Amino acid sequence: MSQYQENATVTRVEQFSATNYRITLNCPEIAGCAEPGQFVMVRTTTSKDPLLRRPFSIHQCLGDGSLQLYFKVVGRGTDLLSKVSPGEKISVFGPLGRGYRLNSTKPAIFVGGGMGIAPLLFLVKEYCRLKKECGEDIVLLGGRDKSEVAPLVDDFEVYGPSVVASTDDGSFGQQGFVTELLQNIALPPSCVLYGCGPEPMLKALGAFCRDRNIECQVSVESVMACGMGACLGCSRPAKDGTYTHVCVHGPVFDAEKLAWNI
Ligand SMILES: Cc1cc2nc3c(=O)[nH]c(=O)nc-3n(C[C@H](O)[C@H](O)[C@H](O)COP(=O)(O)OP(=O)(O)OC[C@H]3O[C@@H](n4cnc5c(N)ncnc54)[C@H](O)[C@@H]3O)c2cc1C
Ligand code: FES
Repeated sequence: MSQYQENATVTRVEQFSATNYRITLNCPEIAGCAEPGQFVMVRTTTSKDPLLRRPFSIHQCLGDGSLQLYFKVVGRGTDLLSKVSPGEKISVFGPLGRGYRLNSTKPAIFVGGGMGIAPLLFLVKEYCRLKKECGEDIVLLGGRDKSEVAPLVDDFEVYGPSVVASTDDGSFGQQGFVTELLQNIALPPSCVLYGCGPEPMLKALGAFCRDRNIECQVSVESVMACGMGACLGCSRPAKDGTYTHVCVHGPVFDAEKLAWNI
């Protein structure tokens, strides 16, 4: 798998809430070979603070040499990234990691929580392109409030699946966690579940699928320094007692292969 370091041009910045942003970056080498579930390491500044690149899922590739990131401001790096303007250049390295294994012959349930919604758009888009007709497939999107979910619903619906939303505060969709939506939908037979979100949500998805014998692929996060297997900073325990490295063995794993210690 090829990887590139590109000086990407920022072409668009969208602000969805006080903390949530989507930026579009023109980086044709990376966008041309990225797969759903992969991520990029971004230098959020040209100065030395922060020194390390930050990892972000590829939200979608637009087919014109650009890709998008959807992110929340949580610290200095993401704050700097939220302040970029169209025309600026930022260094992007990728695509990195192993993405989702798509099986367009089986119905799909896509479950995204919070910023875990980010990689699902690329995944749904590619899945529906391969499958051609996505009427039986279901996307469940959960967030803290309306601003985390509502701006993205149309982007998913355009590919044909049913989209159901939940928010913690009830300001959009059903009030509650996205895992509660999952309990209440009719599951298509032989479906595969693809998830991304906070660790407790992924643990719950894994348990839900194990009880029903459903294949479950989840994208996990960890703190990353290098993103390419060199620093071992992203190690996490696997179910078999070994350690796995999220940046090279993941970030997408079969839920049943990971140890869920939370
Ligand atoms: C593979 C991967 C894909 C990701 N995709 C996205 C995405 O699409 N959108 C998005 O908003 N975020 C994503 N993240 C998380 C994102 O990388 C962090 O939010 C970012 O690095 C924080 O940088 P900062 O300098 O703003 O914050 P820092 O100042 O570094 O940290 C601020 C706070 O965020 C916590 N934090 C930092 N890095 C992580 C991390 N990797 N996971 C969990 N908590 C962290 C810190 O513990 C601290 O509490 C992803 C992480 C990984 C590993
Ligand atoms: S982030 Fe360095 S080994 Fe994974």
